[in-house]
Amino acid sequence: MMAKNIELNNGELMPAIGLGTWRADESGVLAQTIKTAVNLGYRHIDCAKIYGNQEEIGKALKEVGVPRKDLYIVSKFYQNKHRPELVAGALDEILDELQLDYLDLLLMHWPYAIKPEIGTITFASIDIEDVPIMDTWRAMEDLVSTGKVRSIGVSNFNQAVLEKMIPQCRIVPAVNQVEIHPYNQEKELVKFCKKSGIAVTGYCPLGGTKINVMNDDFIKHVAEAHIGTPAQVALSWALARGIAVIPKSTNEIRLKQNLHQVTLTSDEMRMIGKIDKHERKVDPAREYKELEWVFHEDKMECPVI
Ligand code: A2P
Repeated sequence: MMAKNIELNNGELMPAIGLGTWRADESGVLAQTIKTAVNLGYRHIDCAKIYGNQEEIGKALKEVGVPRKDLYIVSKFYQNKHRPELVAGALDEILDELQLDYLDLLLMHWPYAIKPEIGTITFASIDIEDVPIMDTWRAMEDLVSTGKVRSIGVSNFNQAVLEKMIPQCRIVPAVNQVEIHPYNQEKELVKFCKKSGIAVTGYCPLGGTKINVMNDDFIKHVAEAHIGTPAQVALSWALARGIAVIPKSTNEIRLKQNLHQVTLTSDEMRMIGKIDKHERKVDPAREYKELEWVFHEDKMECPVI
């Protein structure tokens, strides 16, 4: 079975399976991976400015020759572009790098800002600055009428922030992209997003290399029962919850495998629902105490909305 599209709150269709590109270039094979993936049927490519690989992706997409209208290209601008006067330029930079005229979806990568002069993935606590999320979001709303972006959304947003944000929006975010796999299920957040008309994309849907989802005994047992693989079970579970997934792989066999789901029974869905450990791969609080609010809203409130 192959997954279809997810309809966003503006009627746009987003392919439910995309290709993740974070750190996909470690082995220097990104261009080939993009071409292989597109040839296998991937149409949704998930990018970000801070991944530092958009030029190579843009070049590969040109070379592979699939019409632009058939692709679904997502990118995210970095935290150093949150000041409202910088947002339009951040999109232009992304389009330049990807060699595209428009994005299908632009995401605010994180709900906090850092100083404009910081362009690296590591920064100091002192570089975090107070730019209200709504100021950045209003600048994103203004981009839609330029035709340079079809949909706008957010990433790594918790429910408390979204609850404060939504009543102030002219355009409600189309998507919230967050870390989701069987060990970090985000049940409450997913329920809230669905109720609010926000589609959810799960990043690290296989747990990446650090979270041991694919070695989980129950996931392995379900995989065997369906003559599939643990990766297929993890992806099928997310898709059955109505969540888009962006697994990454540089291997042709696994790229192909990740496009095909198994049909899980309701009992299997329920049992997988019980193995949640709230175990995240990504949490800025590990490095920056002042960002604890991002994923631990019970401990600290977002300072600026
Ligand atoms: P590889 O590129 O060698 O396939 P995530 O998308 O959750 O971040 O996980 C990505 C990791 O999972 C990569 O290390 C990737 O390695 C591996 N991976 C991707 N697809 C599969 C699969 N079908 N089976 C096993 N490992 C996979």
